[in-house]
Amino acid sequence: SQRKQIDEILASFQLSMENLIEVKNKMREELEYGLKKETHPIATVKMLPTYVCGTPDGTEKGKFLALDLGGTNFRVLLVKIRSGRRKSVRMYNKIFAIPLEIMQGTGEELFDHIVQCIADFLEYMGIKGARLPLGFTFSFPCKQGTLVGWTKGFKATDCEGEDVVDMLREAIKRRNEFDLDIVAVVNDTVGTMMTCGYEDPNCEIGLIAGTGSNVCYMEEMKNIEILEQIEGKMCINTEWGGFGDNGCIDSIRTKYDKEVDEGSLNPGKQRYEKMTSGMYLGEIVRQILIDLTKHGLLFRGQISEPLRTRGIFETKFLSQIESDRLALLQVRRILQQLVLDSTCDDSIIVKEVCGAVSKRAAQLCGAGLAAIVEKKRENRGLEHLKITVGVDGTLYKLHPHFSRILRETVKELAPHCDVTFMLSEDGSGKGAALITAVAKRLHNIDK
Ligand code: BG6
Ligand code: GLC
Repeated sequence: SQRKQIDEILASFQLSMENLIEVKNKMREELEYGLKKETHPIATVKMLPTYVCGTPDGTEKGKFLALDLGGTNFRVLLVKIRSGRRKSVRMYNKIFAIPLEIMQGTGEELFDHIVQCIADFLEYMGIKGARLPLGFTFSFPCKQGTLVGWTKGFKATDCEGEDVVDMLREAIKRRNEFDLDIVAVVNDTVGTMMTCGYEDPNCEIGLIAGTGSNVCYMEEMKNIEILEQIEGKMCINTEWGGFGDNGCIDSIRTKYDKEVDEGSLNPGKQRYEKMTSGMYLGEIVRQILIDLTKHGLLFRGQISEPLRTRGIFETKFLSQIESDRLALLQVRRILQQLVLDSTCDDSIIVKEVCGAVSKRAAQLCGAGLAAIVEKKRENRGLEHLKITVGVDGTLYKLHPHFSRILRETVKELAPHCDVTFMLSEDGSGKGAALITAVAKRLHNIDK
């Protein structure tokens, strides 16, 4: 029957407890491989050292510019930090659009555009003459300052393998209008951990569940083989989005996941990210809906033009469709907005499909996070670990069920860890400014 066919498809997204434990164990293995000196031939979780060695201590101060590139919004910020007993942070920010043709044009065009936005912001704030220190939240994998490879929706040419600070500096030079002191390049996970760490010193993990998916955490120096130091800790950007690129989770990937991967800008890469983050969940949903329609189970068997269009189901639509308070009639209205003409039955099915895809995403993300907190607990040889995770991202913030399922999964898979999730209200720009402040202070001591 029709119902049976639909149930079968939905069942391929259901993960058993065994599946999830396996994901957790595989993730743990990959974390360990990534920390090895000889890059393990099948290591896919990059485990990039960030050279950030501590969380903020409240002595940071000054005026900073920050850039935030790689999430839903590109932002330029001015951050004023006051230290001491009356420590406080004030922020002013402006959001700028990055047109698709710039995200996927040449590197020069992209960095010229970024500098144009900085110029607009300086003008707008009336601080064009000030040569402020700048922290750059650049939410892509970087190894010692060079871009390893684009992820998500970016594909500008001539950037991979290049130094991010150099590219920005050269664009500033080309414009020849103002000067900036570029002090730090920071991943958004690290910025988020820092932002939350400013309030809670127990925050040693940063999680992004947004356009992309990633985690950073404070690792014991002695476990980071490529750095020959023993003392202290350093923040590691795991880039766990690449988990599974060696096929190690292929047994739970569906044909829809494979279709999404093949239609993406980076086929074969970021397989875990493509099952867990906002940029791709809607695409998985779309692939399932196309399949259901082909089988005559949806939309009267008619595949409309919008359904063929990549990217129509943004995170905000999924979040609306799955909202419990939403009557089915309203689901139909949302589908109508997407020019998908649905019956009442259709809207029920669409909602079920969205639910199955987002639930699996939250569980997978939870299994990954369980591996991280368990590693931290074992690192410290503790029976019981209490830890805070700083979190950001539209999927975590907007989706009606994602955050709850994520938390439940971590609790189940890491029962000896007491994990507090702390939402970053200020994005990661504040964290980038804090890191810039620390770097600046250390730099001045060097001199
Ligand atoms: C923002 C942070 O709040 O969240 C960014 O400031 C981050 O640095 C972003 O990249 C992640 O969420 P999304 O959903 O916008 O990709
Ligand atoms: C992608 C990027 C990573 C970033 C994440 C969240 O996975 O590669 O650097 O942290 O998206 O924005």
